[in-house]
Amino acid sequence: VMAEKGGYKHFMQKEIFEQPRAITDTVRGHIDLDRDKLVFEEFPLTKKAFKKIEKIWIVACGTSYHASLVGKYMIEKMALVPVEVDLASEFRYREPLINQKMLLVVISQSGETADTLAALREGKKRGAKTLGICNVLGSTLPRECDYVIYTHAGPEIGVASTKAFTTQLAILYLLSLYFAKLNGKLTEIRTFLEDMLRLPHQIEIILKGAEVVEKLAPQYGNAHNFLYLGRGIYYPIAMEGALKLKEISYIHAEAYAAGEMKHGPIALIDENMPVVALVPKGETYPKMLSNIEEVICRQGKLIALTEKNCKEIGEKANEVIYIPSSNPFLKTILFTIPLQLFAYYMAVFKGTDVDQPRNLAKSVTVE
Ligand code: G6P
Repeated sequence: VMAEKGGYKHFMQKEIFEQPRAITDTVRGHIDLDRDKLVFEEFPLTKKAFKKIEKIWIVACGTSYHASLVGKYMIEKMALVPVEVDLASEFRYREPLINQKMLLVVISQSGETADTLAALREGKKRGAKTLGICNVLGSTLPRECDYVIYTHAGPEIGVASTKAFTTQLAILYLLSLYFAKLNGKLTEIRTFLEDMLRLPHQIEIILKGAEVVEKLAPQYGNAHNFLYLGRGIYYPIAMEGALKLKEISYIHAEAYAAGEMKHGPIALIDENMPVVALVPKGETYPKMLSNIEEVICRQGKLIALTEKNCKEIGEKANEVIYIPSSNPFLKTILFTIPLQLFAYYMAVFKGTDVDQPRNLAKSVTVE
């Protein structure tokens, strides 16, 4: 068993540390740097065909749903096409206004999630073209989609999804660039591709510093509630971080869009409710800073993920984790890694069954 885990204690730990390789394998066939080109042979689209797409829907469950939310930000910002995201279990019952002029993107690690498959069938029934993003070859989802793009994360055994998520984000990033190109919104693609190719090494740098995160576990392992804050494209990353903590450490964690803090969760903040804040450089930075002030004023314990040169945060937060720089889209992947590590080390500290958390299944094939 130890051999299967490649010397790691848990599959989840192994899978977190495999991410540089998983992402390299996933993007490999899609980037042709010599010709400054993106390649999506499995999803051929002409400019004309793309222009006809009125709206893109992305539907999924669990962690794949969080990837979908990030995908919305990426596609809308880069390709300027409206994107609607839905939970598969909601979509299938709400008579969604989807039709043959729209594209339905369905994301699933396993390709077998019952609600996700039902949503796919609902979309097809309503005439939408369908694209699957999936990690398991030969599973049901790719068989039923018009087109499929695979993530090449390799088998994911740990119930809490890690490398499947970051490889989904990598595909959504490349897909956004592809759409942007087709829509005539992107002239210079090379830097975006180079950023992608640099990413695996940047993840390695974060992983090499894993002890920084590990040492937080004994300090915070006895808390009963956590608040995760993010804004914009980092809000779904906060959701994913909170989900990881809930799934495997059984600590209640809630993610909030930081601007909404004043409409409720601020009432909960005191020295017993640690706050994890995602504070990338960029347009929301000053806003996050003021959210952080509000946490500090209320004696909240603050764990901040930020970038070098953001020294205001360093002075204010109880703990600071530094993330390497990239473009705002790809930084979502980099910010995810310490959140996965944090959930993992918290669960190890609490002695839970990390790979097989109670009441959860790797893929939910019943409704
Ligand atoms: C289960 C798993 C999650 C996963 C979700 C969706 O809840 O425990 O890790 O994100 O199903 O699975 P899928 O295979 O469709 O991505």
